[in-house]
Amino acid sequence: MSVTADTYRGGLDAVDRLINRGGDADDLLRAVVEMLHDRFPRYSWVGIYFVEDGELALGPWKGPQATEHVRIPVGQGVCGAAAASGQTEVVDDVNADPRYLACFASTRSEIVVPVTYEGRVVAEIDVDSDQPAAFGSEDRRFLERVATLISPYCLVGWDTGGEAWDP
Ligand code: SME
Repeated sequence: MSVTADTYRGGLDAVDRLINRGGDADDLLRAVVEMLHDRFPRYSWVGIYFVEDGELALGPWKGPQATEHVRIPVGQGVCGAAAASGQTEVVDDVNADPRYLACFASTRSEIVVPVTYEGRVVAEIDVDSDQPAAFGSEDRRFLERVATLISPYCLVGWDTGGEAWDP
């Protein structure tokens, strides 16, 4: 199955449908992670981390294996860099990036998209791919749009108690 403009459009429609369905924020975020993993063959592992007390705490994820990195200090790893800067990080070759915290031997490339609310990073979407340079400008635009759509639901954190926002 190849990814086309329709796949990205379909992904955004799916997020809209999930939001319009209403209900619990945790269920929505879990469903968004599953949708990303299941619709995009290059997205080998997908997770959402929540900013909590200067750390990133792992919430919902989908992939072949659990990661040992369930808490990452802001500033560490590719995930921590994206949280610190508020900018998307795209790593075409994880083995060439000294910041990379290895999770899975199969991972070749990674994208981390911060989820911001009123200028504050509250969470991030992390996608690992088993293919090198798997994330192009369409993936970046698409995932940044998904991050915007889910940002209000990330404010309340995850059921592990992840809370990032002090108004
Ligand atoms: N590779 C990430 C750590 C998280 S795992 O990929 C799930 C990093 O360098 O921050």
